[in-house]
Amino acid sequence: MLYGEVGGIDLAGKLIVFEGLDFTGKTTQARLLARRIESRGQPVVLTGEPGGTAVGNAVREILLTRRHAGTLDDFAELLLFMTSRTQHAREVVLPALALGKTVVSSRYRLSSLAYQGYGRGIDRDLIERLNNEATRGRKADVTFLIDVPVEAALSRKRGDRDRIEAEAVEFYRRVRRGFLELTADDPRVYRIDGTGDVEATASAVARCLGL
Ligand code: TYD
Repeated sequence: MLYGEVGGIDLAGKLIVFEGLDFTGKTTQARLLARRIESRGQPVVLTGEPGGTAVGNAVREILLTRRHAGTLDDFAELLLFMTSRTQHAREVVLPALALGKTVVSSRYRLSSLAYQGYGRGIDRDLIERLNNEATRGRKADVTFLIDVPVEAALSRKRGDRDRIEAEAVEFYRRVRRGFLELTADDPRVYRIDGTGDVEATASAVARCLGL
């Protein structure tokens, strides 16, 4: 088998993204998959949005602090997510892919379509134009949508909620519908049941990639 080729799928230079509601365990799954790929000798960059760069982390703080609840305008919120995405794509994702690394990211373009598009009601064509600019047109090669019903996801939260997590259940219902509708006919998206335990979900993810 060629270097970087795992189970028949060549993962070199591939972008693998985990998407889904808050509290679905995306970040854990991203970490487990990254570890599994790396153990086969393929270099991996594990990352995520919002954040992943110095500018992105500063923007993340503005986005998530509850100090701005009620004052941060929806369109300004979108632009801040796009700021984070632009820096992340150009500083981290695209250079790593160009070096033949596998990039595993918790969240990417789809999150803005679901949260700001379906959740906030911002025009999805506009969001997609901004997504294309931010990422220089680079889409994910494989997306895992970790799907958990809204009530189950929200009931997992312990401790303080950030500004977005404090949104009403109806907001999360729209976001979940967005994730499901936007990915329904996309052959590059695997919808994974995230209600089971961490290991079961990780195995389901790995099987999709032949790992
Ligand atoms: P995330 O980092 O996944 O949350 P955490 O690390 O706390 O589990 O995402 C932070 C929040 O930002 C989350 O509520 C989803 C939201 N979000 C958007 O609304 N739009 C976007 O484009 C992105 C990337 C995230």
